[in-house]
Amino acid sequence: MIDSAWTPALDAASAAPLTVVIGPGDAGKTTLVTALANALFDRGFSVGIVDADVGQSVLGPPTTVGLGRVTRALQHPGDADLIAMAFVGATSPAANLTGTVVATGRMVTRARAQGIARVLVDTGGLIAGDLGRTLKQAKIDLLGPDLVICLARGGECEAVLRPYRVGARPRIVRLAPSPAARSRNAEMRRRYRDEALARYFAGSQRIVLDLRSVVLKRPALFAGEPLNAAKLAEAAAAVGHDITWAERRDSDTAVLTETTLTANAAHRLSPIFGGGPVVAYALDDLIGTLAGVDDAAGETAGLGIVRSIGIDPPSLELETPVAPATIAVVTIGRAKF
Ligand SMILES: Nc1ncnc2c1ncn2[C@@H]1O[C@H](COP(=O)(O)OP(=O)(O)OP(=O)(O)O)[C@@H](O)[C@H]1O
Ligand SMILES: [Mg+2]
Repeated sequence: MIDSAWTPALDAASAAPLTVVIGPGDAGKTTLVTALANALFDRGFSVGIVDADVGQSVLGPPTTVGLGRVTRALQHPGDADLIAMAFVGATSPAANLTGTVVATGRMVTRARAQGIARVLVDTGGLIAGDLGRTLKQAKIDLLGPDLVICLARGGECEAVLRPYRVGARPRIVRLAPSPAARSRNAEMRRRYRDEALARYFAGSQRIVLDLRSVVLKRPALFAGEPLNAAKLAEAAAAVGHDITWAERRDSDTAVLTETTLTANAAHRLSPIFGGGPVVAYALDDLIGTLAGVDDAAGETAGLGIVRSIGIDPPSLELETPVAPATIAVVTIGRAKF
């Protein structure tokens, strides 16, 4: 049953192949998307939900944008059949704005390629300030929705919507949040994320990937010309810091250390490595971090937790529910678990 206050949104969404729902945190965006999905499904449309919230994820684990297809009445958006996900690598879009927008675009493209007639994009609550406006406008500009629904108590969406008020597209519908909407504090949000990730990783196994065949996309390591042991020793002595691995890439030198190298030390390494920028990576930052694993078609097949990185030969140990044979590319994100 759809709330009568939502009828204008439902009528507009019935006519809109692509709808984006925006609004501040806890406004009821996910609740509205679920109700719209059910109502559109009841009207006979094929319906997809793109969950573009990388923190309070309902389709796919946190750090991803998920795409679900509605195949029955949903109690919860997570009841949709998950048909694809795209790894972002952060649980806050602020940590990877570009990645969040790209992943959302990919999932909408995927939904359209599947012939889904009505696609609803549920977004996270980051809408305030320069960052929120940039993020929401980038999504709208990339996706070109037919309809934007703003769920807000006051004028929280107006800075985002300003450039779109002048034209005929997208159509804009504004709704007030339900008095029943409940807010969640940072601790509840953290617990939700951790529980969702724990559920995702239940039944995972530790696997070791050979990075001579599997590509490590980010950080882009083991792709350049390795520096020899003598050079590493010279560099380590110059900065008083052990260096595990270094390689010349196209225009810079990548350095891997156990613990974080200061920016100053990295700068001092530049002439030793023949000039150019030195990009430093620390195993301390990479171990325990969530990684996205892609199949050979470039689709995110799932997540892994980085457990260790080997040098000779280059290898990556992951804890993951994904079968090792399907993994072609790995991207290490920014969020630890
Ligand atoms: N119309 C409603 N009727 C009853 N409960 C609601 C309604 N809207 C929201 N709620 C409740 O309020 C809480 C927040 O709603 P919801 O998760 O939909 O908000 P959101 O805008 O998606 O939040 P976030 O920004 O975290 O994604 C939930 O517990 C939800 O059940
Ligand atoms: Mg939500």
